[in-house]
Amino acid sequence: MNDTVMDDSRIRGLPKAELHVHIEGTLEPELMFELACRNAIELPFASVEEVRAAYEFDDLQSFLDIYYQAADVLRTEQDFYDLTTAYLERAHADGVRHAEIFFDPQTHTDRNIPFSTVVTGLHRALNEGEQRLGITALLIMCFLRHLPEESALSTLEEALPFRDWIVAVGLDSSEVGHPPEDFQRAFARAREAGFRVVAHAGEEGPPSYVWQSLDLLGAERIDHGVRSTEDPELLARLVRDAITLTICPLSNIKLRVFQQMSDHNLKDLLHEGVRATINSDDPAYFGGYIGDNFIAARDALGLSDNDIVTLARNSIEATFLDESSKQVLLDELARYLEVQGIPV
Ligand code: HPA
Ligand code: ZN
Repeated sequence: MNDTVMDDSRIRGLPKAELHVHIEGTLEPELMFELACRNAIELPFASVEEVRAAYEFDDLQSFLDIYYQAADVLRTEQDFYDLTTAYLERAHADGVRHAEIFFDPQTHTDRNIPFSTVVTGLHRALNEGEQRLGITALLIMCFLRHLPEESALSTLEEALPFRDWIVAVGLDSSEVGHPPEDFQRAFARAREAGFRVVAHAGEEGPPSYVWQSLDLLGAERIDHGVRSTEDPELLARLVRDAITLTICPLSNIKLRVFQQMSDHNLKDLLHEGVRATINSDDPAYFGGYIGDNFIAARDALGLSDNDIVTLARNSIEATFLDESSKQVLLDELARYLEVQGIPV
């Protein structure tokens, strides 16, 4: 049997990195109402309870429809600051020592919110969060794949003055029918400008989208990637090249990628030698932050203490931090295990 030392509080305390969280997906209904009030916006919901009741999804698209609509309450730099500060506080309570946070500039620039308003609010919150909470963070700008590549290219141009504030580019939104190969020019241009590269692939889309992300976009990590188990050659490639999958268990259940948590392939991937990590994706919509994701996966899949520590270690090793900063976090993890008496 699985003789676990890793109870809920030890899991929350475990030093870890979060690599797959959309800042727009951390908008809790309470803050949505507060911002709607502040910005004199009428919401199609009467109460926080009504909002939560609307969070029943059939698939990725049914979620995205609500998610993009809700983002309309984000108007000012202060709104983006407040959103990010709230996330950092939740992440801090779950032992997150470093976060690499997605934002979707086109969701905002398409509503005439300037790129600079978005990124300045995010950046100010991250700076202050580091001082106050000791969490470090980097920003990843995602291109919306349901929009044309031209829009991604012009977004990239808008980002260049803020190059130092953004570590990487990513690809998100409606996956099926929008293959990575459609964005080769935008990603080549981003790589030329010095951005690191990640991409959502293999969430609802086929293994070929994961191959394309790696081979045509130059992705260094794959966001989700859970459908990779359908292709043994792809799995071998992920293991050989130590490609990280940023897996989001509660998201995968809410969006019906797996019918129930006990069906999830996270443990299989981990035991195949894939560098898997656990993340929250859109925690305000999917029922929990990173700690809840670890706990739900542990309970349904019977993750061992060793599995849980491997997931935390993977998250640190897969960051875009430099080697010495990674080592500081790995040392912190080792100290935690020692103090807590966790034998691994
Ligand atoms: N997949 C694709 N796009 C997204 C997601 C996701 O899980 N969350 C927010 N945008
Ligand atoms: Zn995502």
